[in-house]
Amino acid sequence: MNILLFGPPGAGKGTQSSMLVEKMGMSHISTGDLFRHAIKNKTPLGLEAQSYTDKGDLVPDSVVIGMVDEVVRGLEGKGFILDGFPRTVPQAKALDEMLEKYSLKVDKALFLEVPEEQLVARLSGRRVCKDCGAVYHAQTHPPKAEGVCDQCGGDVVQRTDDQEEAVRHRLKVYKNSTEPVKVFYQERDSLVEVDGTGDVMAVFGRLESQLDQ
Ligand code: AP5
Repeated sequence: MNILLFGPPGAGKGTQSSMLVEKMGMSHISTGDLFRHAIKNKTPLGLEAQSYTDKGDLVPDSVVIGMVDEVVRGLEGKGFILDGFPRTVPQAKALDEMLEKYSLKVDKALFLEVPEEQLVARLSGRRVCKDCGAVYHAQTHPPKAEGVCDQCGGDVVQRTDDQEEAVRHRLKVYKNSTEPVKVFYQERDSLVEVDGTGDVMAVFGRLESQLDQ
């Protein structure tokens, strides 16, 4: 099964994608994670991306589209969940072309809906493991020992783009560039909106029931 999971920054895309992948076994393609990995390894892609990601700006479409195309090509038909792509209308159009090129289709496009004040609270409290990327929240889901990842023992830190100024900027960028993507899929009648509020398991249950239909 091929799934698109999108929504505003902090909606829970990463959290829910990891759970869906664990349950259903498809590949998780998170453009944000791909950039963070490239930045950590100081690759040419990472060096180019960092100037955008740190400020909460979008990486240019041509860079993102090329990166996703390479990953999708490498899947050789295995199911996937796309988390954080497409994020602009040109990316959505490029995804159509990419899927046609590889004779693939999206089975479900799911949009996680969360009000803005909850997004700010989720993002400003988010903490992540520097080593394995596990996601925590300072108030609602802290690691057992402060600053230490439960899964791998790595350092748990705040993402640079989760600082207040970058969060506000990301929400603006989302409104200008990514909300039109929601309209793009709504106009084709292929978008399912899912309530992303409530606890993580409640949201997961709603996603699962959409995928079962
Ligand atoms: P990316 O990492 O994709 O950032 P994002 O879309 O802003 O999404 P987030 O990772 O911030 O949030 P999320 O929805 O995954 O929420 P999470 O599950 O972590 O991208 C980073 C950057 O890369 C972008 O700014 C851009 O520069 C670049 N980039 C990426 N893709 C791009 C593209 N396509 N084009 C151009 N540039 C691109 O949850 C957040 C917090 O909330 C966590 O602490 C979690 O524990 C908590 N939480 C989750 N669910 C719940 C719940 N139900 N209740 C309470 N708390 C919850």
